[in-house]
Amino acid sequence: MPKPNILSLPMLHGMRFSTAQVFALVRRDLLQVEEELERQSRSNVQILSHLNRYLLSSGGKRLRPALLLLAAKVFGEALDHSIISMAAVMEMLHTATLVHDDIIDGAEIRRGKKTVAEQWGNDIAVLLGDWLYMTAFETSLQQRNLEVLDVLTEATRKMTEGELLQLPLVGDLRITEEQHFEIVQRKTGFLFSASCRLGGVLRGASAVEKAALEDYGMNLGIAFQLTDDLLDFTSDAKKLGKPVLSDLREGKVTLPLIRLLDQYPQYEVLVVEAMDETGEENEAAAIKVLAILREYGQLEIARDEARNYAAQAQEALESLPDNQYRQALYDIAQFVVERDK
Ligand code: IPE
Ligand code: IPE
Ligand code: MG
Ligand code: MG
Repeated sequence: MPKPNILSLPMLHGMRFSTAQVFALVRRDLLQVEEELERQSRSNVQILSHLNRYLLSSGGKRLRPALLLLAAKVFGEALDHSIISMAAVMEMLHTATLVHDDIIDGAEIRRGKKTVAEQWGNDIAVLLGDWLYMTAFETSLQQRNLEVLDVLTEATRKMTEGELLQLPLVGDLRITEEQHFEIVQRKTGFLFSASCRLGGVLRGASAVEKAALEDYGMNLGIAFQLTDDLLDFTSDAKKLGKPVLSDLREGKVTLPLIRLLDQYPQYEVLVVEAMDETGEENEAAAIKVLAILREYGQLEIARDEARNYAAQAQEALESLPDNQYRQALYDIAQFVVERDK
């Protein structure tokens, strides 16, 4: 008898996957996405080939392509090349936003290596980000599918708006929860939601199914960003591949801090000190801020908020065909909020 293959296992009611099992469901496809990324990243311009090799070798979780692949597989296991190609496009768009984001945030380390801006300077990073955006769009044009372009242009525009809305609020301790969620939704939610929706679009899913995938992706993206913001307080640089307590240094007031300051404005002075990179005490102040957030349970409260979004993402899946790929999407929502890196 042939060995049971996870790819052909029937969905068991209430079955739960581990992260490794979810990954196994799309492992072969992700390898193809990697090859496709390598192909799309080739350029006659030597510096671009060099930079792209640097980016590709730094890794990353490949979450957005995995979401597109799983969303597509909900409607049938066999994938054609257009789906692999669009999964690579999502990763390329994501990479473009990271290259630009690191310029804006003045970040030095990403995926355990120097950021492009740190290694080659802002000018090159701006142009590389632009090149990645345009190459991703050029590839997606090959689909000759206006709906695909609609989804991608909207997501990219919203992401840019998110980063723009964030700018004047950097260092602003009076940022409201509404403003914060608006930013989170735009800068992260839309790309997740586009990745999931496109999986359905490329498989001819119904309007209801596409809306469900979009809803799932948006809620998942918000849960993901809230967790990213929490990990900035709770994880360590080695695991994350980027420094911790960096949001404070970058002047980003995220959910736990917004809520703390709302209730206890007396901590504003300490937070300002933690954000002041010119001061000598900023490191010590940041550690104190972290201790206070823990003491008031704000990290747990924010994690519960992330869990709520993850649960909403899971609920959105109900109108999709019930199979192991839907189950994998369901389980990803849990991994996203319970992860430690
Ligand atoms: C980082 O995204 C940017 C955020 C939305 C927080 P990821 O955490 O998915 O980055 P990589 O691709 O795994 O490096
Ligand atoms: C997410 O914001 C970045 C984008 C969606 C472009 P962050 O600034 O929190 O991401 P990291 O922490 O640098 O990865
Ligand atoms: Mg950043
Ligand atoms: Mg972050």
